[in-house]
Amino acid sequence: MRFDEIAVDALEAHVKNVLTKEEITRLIETPKHAEHGDIAFPCFQLAKTYRKSPQQIAKELSEVCEHPFIEKFEANGPYLNAFLKRKLISKQLIEKVTQLSDHYGSAIDGIGARVVIDFSSPNIAKPFSMGHLRSTVIGNSLALLAEKNGCEPVKINHLGDWGTQFGKLIAAYKHWGNEAEVKENPIPTLLKLYVKFHKESEENPQLSIEGRGWFKKLEGGDLEAESLWKWFKDESLKEFEKVYQMLGISFDKVQGESFYNDKMEEVVKELSEKGLLHESEGARVVNLGEDQPPCLIEKTDGTTLYATRDLAAAIYRYKTYDFQQCLYVVGGEQQLHFEQIFQVLGMMGYDWNKKMTHVPFGLILKDGKKMSTRKGKVVLLEEVLQNAIDKAKDNMMEKNPELKNLEDVAKQVGVGAVIFHDLKNERLGSVEFDLEQMLKFEGDTGPYVQYTNARCQTILTKAERKGHMDKVSGLEDPYSWEVVKLLERFPTEVKRAFDLYEPSVIAKYLLKLSQAVNTYYGNVKILQGDAGEKDNKLALLKSVTIVLQEGLRLLGIKAPKKM
Ligand code: ARG
Repeated sequence: MRFDEIAVDALEAHVKNVLTKEEITRLIETPKHAEHGDIAFPCFQLAKTYRKSPQQIAKELSEVCEHPFIEKFEANGPYLNAFLKRKLISKQLIEKVTQLSDHYGSAIDGIGARVVIDFSSPNIAKPFSMGHLRSTVIGNSLALLAEKNGCEPVKINHLGDWGTQFGKLIAAYKHWGNEAEVKENPIPTLLKLYVKFHKESEENPQLSIEGRGWFKKLEGGDLEAESLWKWFKDESLKEFEKVYQMLGISFDKVQGESFYNDKMEEVVKELSEKGLLHESEGARVVNLGEDQPPCLIEKTDGTTLYATRDLAAAIYRYKTYDFQQCLYVVGGEQQLHFEQIFQVLGMMGYDWNKKMTHVPFGLILKDGKKMSTRKGKVVLLEEVLQNAIDKAKDNMMEKNPELKNLEDVAKQVGVGAVIFHDLKNERLGSVEFDLEQMLKFEGDTGPYVQYTNARCQTILTKAERKGHMDKVSGLEDPYSWEVVKLLERFPTEVKRAFDLYEPSVIAKYLLKLSQAVNTYYGNVKILQGDAGEKDNKLALLKSVTIVLQEGLRLLGIKAPKKM
């Protein structure tokens, strides 16, 4: 039972003419200081009806309220404070967590509800950028959270694999390309070609025309254009796959923009039939209102645009998946684009556009500046991750030189550090990319959480007698109580994280839990005391490892048993 539910239970009968259950729930607070108990209920709102001072009301309530889970009620000025029965609650909680194990915190609320999550979605022939890394780790965690909350996630990688830029790339390749070089080093080579194309076309406008021509051919199914495009795409996918492998992330569908190639004509037709399509300087657009820019659907030469493909994708997804929610995990700079898409769908008469949400996020910064792929010098994400793994390895060789399977653990720690560093920040804020910082074993880092878990695991393994869960009788000391209170909150945090589309809720929670566990560990001798006492303490640690592991899993991070 949740603590606020206990409080409502205890209070309801006594204030029922004045406050509803919901109102009581809303009023309940957690006292800042432990000496004020576990729950605080402010009595101000009752004063008017009862014609008494809040102080008086708190005092009277403290005399009449009772609850099997509450030790005592105390008036503290205008507040009614309640002290929970630590032993009873910790016993029940530990039993619940250890029995449910990794199902603890799982909800069945959303049962069957399909949640389409469009995330990662890098652009082929370009490096996997830091922005795409953010989308990838946030989207993956949201899919895991959706599932934990009883929904059925559908993970879609909407690759940027279509558009005028590929016409330009083909033109560039035809002019200056070299097969062996592309094969040898695909993404940097293709990027170089693309950059060169842009530079040259400033002086030679003929090139732009050529580029557009190639895209028109591509959309028209020209064989040469198609085979070059397909080759670029395959080479890019091989590179992206390395990154996904390292991150341990997979998709249900890799349906890039090109997937909608044969589905766009129908959308354009539908827009036209519904009277929404207008000519504007030779192009075709949907007008959205007085001071809003129109949504571009077709260029002058009849080729399609990013928005056209997103409209086709939305309709296809709704037909195919009948989703309850469709999330787009894409940087904040595309806000206008998604507003336009949702609005056009609404104008087409699709009221399910209300089920679609753009889940934006901030930038990744390096020394306060946007991390970009500088001309010529490409920062490959694969290298960044490898760097993190190498550093993690160095750290661990220092800390624990005897560690077996060092390679595996270094991978879990290095990659976990990068993911955690991203997800501990509220997604709308920007993230400062700092490899040194994110790999620290102390502080707000992934390795700190992983290390806390590994430490508990080691104790559990070492203890001759592991916790006999059937003999748990509960704990009372203030250090374990802090841990118990946090463990109790896990299901609430899991729900909140998904409701807000905010994995940082889980990351922050894990940091708090780790801190409480380390304080506990520092103040209580786990392996001392009689057998019964030891069992209780070990059972608490067991519960902690269950929640730490499950929490890390929800972020897409591994929890090594030793490190
Ligand atoms: N490829 C796009 C980019 O890198 C992101 C695609 C996001 N998804 C979507 N359905 N538009 O900017």
